[in-house]
Amino acid sequence: MEAKARARANIALVKYWGKADSRLKIPAVGSISITLDKLWTETTVRFDSGLDTDTLELDGVPRPDRLTRVSATLDLLRELAGTSARARVVSRNNFPTGAGLASSASGFAALVGAGAAALGLTLSPTELSRLARRGSGSAARSIFGGFVEMHAGKAPDGSDSFAEPILAASEWPLEVVVAIAARGEKDVGSGEGMARSETSSPYYPAWVASHPDDLAAARKAIAARDFDALADVAERSCLKMHAAAMAASPPLLYWKGVTVEALHAVRALRREGVPVFFTIDAGPQLKAVCLPEARERVAAELGAVPGVLDVLTTGLGPGLEVETGGR
Ligand code: DP6
Repeated sequence: MEAKARARANIALVKYWGKADSRLKIPAVGSISITLDKLWTETTVRFDSGLDTDTLELDGVPRPDRLTRVSATLDLLRELAGTSARARVVSRNNFPTGAGLASSASGFAALVGAGAAALGLTLSPTELSRLARRGSGSAARSIFGGFVEMHAGKAPDGSDSFAEPILAASEWPLEVVVAIAARGEKDVGSGEGMARSETSSPYYPAWVASHPDDLAAARKAIAARDFDALADVAERSCLKMHAAAMAASPPLLYWKGVTVEALHAVRALRREGVPVFFTIDAGPQLKAVCLPEARERVAAELGAVPGVLDVLTTGLGPGLEVETGGR
């Protein structure tokens, strides 16, 4: 009744922003991401029929405030296993939680991996991806390593809304440099930010309508290992997502001044011919994606941007890893 799993964070190059169904967390748009090797969540789930409620400990601290989504995700697993046993969930991130570093993606992927294994459920990666989606849309992608595409799907029950791998990490080993612009949890989480964009941003319909072309361009760039083409579409998708969010009411502005300085630093490098592009999620951190030969230069330049607190570098990593009988 106990298992442990590790899942890695991912960053979207073509972003997911908006839902077709908020209860089932069916995304309004597909997305394409890369899974990061060095940023992970490790989670142990132990089902125990003696417990009255689920409990969650995150980075050593009890987090009853985060339990609702965790319990709802565990309920889906309990239903599949035909049990009502509550669980003790102990989870640890090796990077700052809730600061725009996709902790919900690695967190819910690790949770479904450990939870399913603890209940002895044998689920395919596709099934795990669908279940992880119910915790957090982006978590569906963290089931897989390397380059991953999430399908928005068409089915009202979400059965065709899942991710799948499109290229192994070893086939195109890009590097990622994360510029930490602020620590601590963000003010408006992605779920709320999306809902606000959907209902109030005049740019949201244009974001959705222009999305298929970006997905097609990214797929083509990845298949051809065309860095410049991937750079163009990824920066475009990122800025469009933020433009749609900024136009919401009340407006959403996830960037700090240092985020914008880091963005200009990446653009200046690219103008010089350095193979690097930026992307930013629902938080202030800037992620620079580059070819391996550019990693040190990119890390040095971003580290020198005034206000950047730290830089993390990582390659691309594998998908969900599950250990049964773990402690
Ligand atoms: C900006 O997956 O955190 O990182 O499905 O509501 O839990 P919910 O949202 P979440 O949103 C991620 C948004 C993003 C872009 C992306 O990862 O594609």
